[in-house]
Amino acid sequence: MNKLSVRIKNIVLKAPLLTSSGTSGSKDEINFIQNRKSVLKSLGAFVTKGVSINKSLGNKDPRIVEVRSGILNSIGLQNKGVRKFFDEDVPELRKYNIPIIVNISADTIEEFGELAEIIKTTDRTNSISGLEINVSCPNIKKGGAAFGADPQIVEKVVREIKSKVHDSLCIITKLSPNVTDITQIAKAAINGGTDALSMINTLRGMAIDINNMKPILGNQVGGLSGPCIKPIGLYMVYECFRSIPECKRKEIPIIGIGGISNFNDTMEYILAGATAVGIGTQWFINNTIFEEIHKDLTDYLDKNKTTISSLIGKTHDS
Ligand SMILES: Cc1cc2nc3c(=O)[nH]c(=O)nc-3n(C[C@H](O)[C@H](O)[C@H](O)COP(=O)(O)O)c2cc1C
Repeated sequence: MNKLSVRIKNIVLKAPLLTSSGTSGSKDEINFIQNRKSVLKSLGAFVTKGVSINKSLGNKDPRIVEVRSGILNSIGLQNKGVRKFFDEDVPELRKYNIPIIVNISADTIEEFGELAEIIKTTDRTNSISGLEINVSCPNIKKGGAAFGADPQIVEKVVREIKSKVHDSLCIITKLSPNVTDITQIAKAAINGGTDALSMINTLRGMAIDINNMKPILGNQVGGLSGPCIKPIGLYMVYECFRSIPECKRKEIPIIGIGGISNFNDTMEYILAGATAVGIGTQWFINNTIFEEIHKDLTDYLDKNKTTISSLIGKTHDS
C-alpha cells in the first residue's frame, strides 16, 4: 500500500479522494474525466449519482441556485433507472479502472430490498465494488419524512439491503445531517450491518426571490452544499468517531463529505476521523481540485514521513 492508500472494507483506494454522489454524473462527466488522466490518478473511487428502480425525471426547474458560500439543489434524484444504468453506464465506467460505488435511493424499505436484488442479478460480473445507501430520500410510506431521521428504519433498510447482496459488496450508509443526533442514526446503520458510513448529505434549505416573493427553486426547498456546510460535516464526523467504538477502532470507516474545497479541509476531516473524503460542489468550481489535493497530500506525507492511515482520527489522541 502506498502512503495515500486506504481501505473501505475490501475496497482499496489508491488515494483517500472520492467523487461525491450526484456531483460528477455517472457516464457523461466521466468522459470528461477520462480526457484528463491526472484526475483518474488522483481518484480513489468513483461514486455515482443516485439510481432508483425506475427512471425519474427529477424536480421542476430551477433546480440549482447559488447562495453565499454554497449552492442549493433540488435535482430530485433524476436518473435513468437501475437496469438501464447497469446496461449503459457501468460498462463505460469500468473502462477507467477505478472502483465504482453506486449510490441508491428508494421510497420504501421494500423498494430498497428490490433494488438491491435487481443489482445482484444484473451485475453478474461483480463489476461494482460498493453500494452507498442514500437514506436522505423521502420515505413515501411514512408520509415523505426522510428515512434517515428514524434509527429503526435506517437499521431495517441496511439489513434489508445486506440480506440481498453478495457479502463481498461493500455497503456504505450515507447519513443525513437533518437529524437531532447523527450518532444515533450511525449506530442504527451499524446495527443493521453497514460496512462503512458516509456523511454528510445536504442540509435542507431554501432561497426566496424578493421581487416575485416566491421560492426560487421549482421544488421550493432544496439541499445546501459547499464550503458553508464544512464545519457541520466535520463536526458530525468528529462526533461519530469520538462516540462510536466501531468507528474509533476503525472497523467501520467513515467517508467525510461536506464543503471540502482544498488540502486543509481534507486534512481536517481525516484528523477528525474520516478514512477518505468525498468532494462535490467544489468540483463544479475548480476542476483540478482532485489533482491539487492529491499533490498537497503527497507533499505533506513525504515531508512528515507519515501515511494517511496513521493520521485518521489523530485529533482524538490524548
Ligand atoms: C447537484 C447535487 C446532486 C446530488 N445528488 C445526490 C444523490 O443523488 N445522492 C446522494 O446521496 N447525494 C447527492 N448529493 C449530495 C452530495 O453527494 C454531497 O453529500 C453534498 O453535496 C455535500 O458535499 P459538498 O459540499 O462537497 O457538495 C448531491 C449534491 C448536489 C450538489
